[in-house]
Amino acid sequence: MDSRRRFKEIKEHFEKETAVFDKLFFKVMPRYEEMMQALINAMPFNKKDSLRIIELGCGTGNLTREIISSYTNARITCIDMADNMLKMAKAKLKNNRNVAFWLGDIRDFNYKGKYDAVVASMVLHHVEGKDKPEFYRKFYKSLSRGGVFLCLDIFLSPNKHLQDLYMDKWRAFMKSSGLPTKKINDMITRHQKEDRPVVFEDELAIMRKTGFKYVDVILKHYNFAVYSGVK
Ligand SMILES: C[S@@+](CC[C@H](N)C(=O)[O-])C[C@H]1O[C@@H](n2cnc3c(N)ncnc32)[C@H](O)[C@@H]1O
Repeated sequence: MDSRRRFKEIKEHFEKETAVFDKLFFKVMPRYEEMMQALINAMPFNKKDSLRIIELGCGTGNLTREIISSYTNARITCIDMADNMLKMAKAKLKNNRNVAFWLGDIRDFNYKGKYDAVVASMVLHHVEGKDKPEFYRKFYKSLSRGGVFLCLDIFLSPNKHLQDLYMDKWRAFMKSSGLPTKKINDMITRHQKEDRPVVFEDELAIMRKTGFKYVDVILKHYNFAVYSGVK
């Protein structure tokens, strides 16, 4: 399937899922709140700083809400391809004047000016590995010197034993959240069909090659990780 057709399918999927997204996502994503908090804790700024931040794939605004409550003077531009997700985010953020929205593909966003941070939660696994170097280069250019990229996402292990363990642990988490077996199987099937996670070390290598310094892993829980780099 070519990447634009895949994009269309994923978009339709999120447009339809918006109403139940939050309820479901907290049951699907292990340690979600802790991971978002780890990402925010790693931001090297003062709480009152007037920051300019880009959020890639903001969805219903879960990470956005956490950031603006910690950094009250931050101005965030949220990008997402799903109109319904953005509408939900606007409602959740109560039309906060410091948050702007851009509807479209995160690969197509036209960065203007310089940003202090680019953040993303559970979206980069939608970008194909072959598109990643160009994708990283584009937003790296838009960061100020000392600006940071902070991300939370899902990865593969190059070790089959560990990869199998990660999938078992993920299933066990969804089961412990009360999801029925059929729903868990559907989630895993969809993940295997739609998502394009890469080996974590490969992602970090692309970041280093792009020019990011101090590339580091802030928190890792089986296949889920929070990581960052500095320009
Ligand atoms: C799994 S959700 C995560 C949402 C949010 N970041 C969170 O943590 O709750 C992925 C989001 O990324 C968006 N998305 C996926 N691929 C995208 C792309 N190529 N361009 C823009 N948005 C994209 C989807 O519409 C969806 O809202």
